[in-house]
Amino acid sequence: MNFKIRAATKEDCKDISRMIMELAAYVKAPDQVKISHEELQGDGFCQNPFFECLVAEVPEEQKSKEGFTVVGYAFYFYTYSTWKGPTVYLEDLYVMPEFRGNGIGTGLLSKVAEVAKKKKQCVHLHLSVLDWNTPSRDFYAAKGAQDLTVTEGIHVLRFDGQNLDNLANEAPKD
Ligand SMILES: CC(C)(COP(=O)(O)OP(=O)(O)OC[C@H]1O[C@@H](n2cnc3c(N)ncnc32)[C@H](O)[C@@H]1OP(=O)(O)O)[C@@H](O)C(=O)NCCC(=O)NCCS
Repeated sequence: MNFKIRAATKEDCKDISRMIMELAAYVKAPDQVKISHEELQGDGFCQNPFFECLVAEVPEEQKSKEGFTVVGYAFYFYTYSTWKGPTVYLEDLYVMPEFRGNGIGTGLLSKVAEVAKKKKQCVHLHLSVLDWNTPSRDFYAAKGAQDLTVTEGIHVLRFDGQNLDNLANEAPKD
């Protein structure tokens, strides 16, 4: 299968939004997606973008059943390790089901690694994956990813909603 991996443009945000929904459905959380393609455009294609994104595109003659040519994406942003320096966080990696098993996921992942190393000298790429998502855990393990929950006992934590509000409201006044 022919495919091209390229940096996403503002015009890709509708396709990215569609695939964010597909990925959310795959991880059984379709009602968790609150972000619109307009918000993605504003947050990712501005002077200080919050994220970068790569898309995988197939030629017109190989488009999906529904007529899409943008069939996968990798969504990432830069972070920083106080031990190691610049790092990159892969928020989403997704390939539409009918295009899987053709090297597109590997291509997207490798391209993120290449961009992060060349552009920001990143020393590691990290990501989270659900425990039941064995195909993806196997995919990452086969590429050499370490499972930090196993090797370092790391738990991924989050403050949101009222708990985040509470923290912010308790901040010392200037
Ligand atoms: C994980 C994912 C991105 C991989 O994409 P992909 O395009 O299928 O990846 P590749 O084709 O590069 O490699 C897939 C591997 O699985 C194998 N595979 C074969 N058929 C497959 C299929 N129908 N589906 C998935 N993997 C398949 C391939 O042989 C390959 O192994 P190899 O590297 O040893 O050859 C994709 O399966 C996906 O979108 N999954 C759902 C979303 C998800 O879980 N994302 C990650 C968490 S955020």
